[in-house]
Amino acid sequence: MTDLTVTSTSPASLDVDALVVGAVRTELGPRVLADALPAAAATRLASLAPALGITGAPDDVHRFPAPDGVAARVVVVTGLGSDPDDAEALRRGAGAAVRTLAGTASVAVALPVASDAAVSAVLEGSALGAYAFDRYTTDPEKPAAVGAVQVVVPDAKAARDAVERARVLATSVHLVRDLVNAAPNDLYPEAFAGAAKDAAKGTGVKVTVLDDKALASGGYGGLVAVGQGSVRGPRLVKVAWSPSKPAAKVALVGKGITFDSGGISLKPPTSMVAMKSDMAGAAAVLGTVLAAARLKLPVAVTGWLCLAENMPSGTAQRPSDVITIRGGKTVEVLNTDAEGRLVLADGLVAALEEGPDVVLDVATLTGAQMVALGARVSAVMGSDDVRDEVVAAAGRAGEQFWPMPLPAELRESLASKVADIANIGERHGGMLVAGLFLKDFVGQTPWAHLDIAGPAFNESSAFGYTPVGGTGVAVRTLLELVESRGNRG
Ligand code: BES
Ligand code: ZN
Ligand code: ZN
Repeated sequence: MTDLTVTSTSPASLDVDALVVGAVRTELGPRVLADALPAAAATRLASLAPALGITGAPDDVHRFPAPDGVAARVVVVTGLGSDPDDAEALRRGAGAAVRTLAGTASVAVALPVASDAAVSAVLEGSALGAYAFDRYTTDPEKPAAVGAVQVVVPDAKAARDAVERARVLATSVHLVRDLVNAAPNDLYPEAFAGAAKDAAKGTGVKVTVLDDKALASGGYGGLVAVGQGSVRGPRLVKVAWSPSKPAAKVALVGKGITFDSGGISLKPPTSMVAMKSDMAGAAAVLGTVLAAARLKLPVAVTGWLCLAENMPSGTAQRPSDVITIRGGKTVEVLNTDAEGRLVLADGLVAALEEGPDVVLDVATLTGAQMVALGARVSAVMGSDDVRDEVVAAAGRAGEQFWPMPLPAELRESLASKVADIANIGERHGGMLVAGLFLKDFVGQTPWAHLDIAGPAFNESSAFGYTPVGGTGVAVRTLLELVESRGNRG
């Protein structure tokens, strides 16, 4: 990970490759926040801002040769939008600048940080923007994340905890991005389980892996059915952070389809290209548990990674097969492409056996999520209180989660002629129907279901601290929720 530190040194004297300052949009035009620069240089930059093309809009990033009196080589102006006190605007502005500076060895970030929340936001944005995925390129000039970021703050000592939290958070988000970006020939269920073990080393998180045999004998019919079309068998991985005398017990269940071809209900080729990202929920669960452990949160957090590869073959499940989920409920599989709910059902039942206070599942579950909310806004549904808790946590964390209903009348469409429930129902409101399917396996435990189908994988271009490809969405929201459960007293 990029080296992230804070400094209270005067920004102009910092010997770095690039010094980042902000610009805001005002009714009178762009305004450069150049207090960090010597007065003459600040005045000049401010008066030239429109001519230089600076707008102050989010993702508007410009570089200039540093003026006299500035030790850095270049000055970078990053847009903060119209409200520089908004934490997410700072996160995005810092992230966009650091992301754009990929390949630069040392960067200092001098943005307006009047509050603790602002300090945290700039630290987080800087760390999240410092990401590059270079696993598969043989180009000697590989993309490289910024080497070191110094964030300028009023009191470096007072910011120590915030630095630590930002590092931990970014380490988890980067892990999720790496796992999502990994090619599905490299990241199959067994490999994912191995990656979880590796990542957990030294964190105090206990990793337990159930392989295909254990899943069959344990009655995990959803994981077995979805995984049986692939030569690479399914896994259920339990990752547990168990502090002594926990203030709460949180269970997290993640969809981990390492590749979703659709199975016998095969997807058309264009719908398949992003389907290496169908394990983003499980990756987010892993990232959250590791972050909770590294921060030593006083909350027991158990993650369940439901891993399988959904492939068509002579051994694959067929549309109209009837399977039995752990715990005994039967499902008629009418469409093998609605596989996420089958593996999650097993995971939810397993999670509930341990009696958590609350259970949350995270999944790239439906194309309908993208139809409803687009590529940047995730959906959350479930028990009213937990759903609202997720929305509130997301707001504090700077992620977009929107509350969605679970209309009881849609449940009828999941009726099966032969089994307890079918795995597909009414097409309209497909995201809600998927949520209602999961609800059948949850019982009375407070629960929320997070559908991150669109936001998990950025298929367009980078923005703010968000790169192309895996985004790491949901880690920040889930960590925030776990932290707040620890503070409930
Ligand atoms: N993994 C997909 C959902 C998805 C689609 C995620 C696009 C990200 C981007 C899921 O397994 C799926 O195929 N769902 C079907 C369900 C349908 C058959 C009821 C869908 O959404 O079309
Ligand atoms: Zn599918
Ligand atoms: Zn899927």
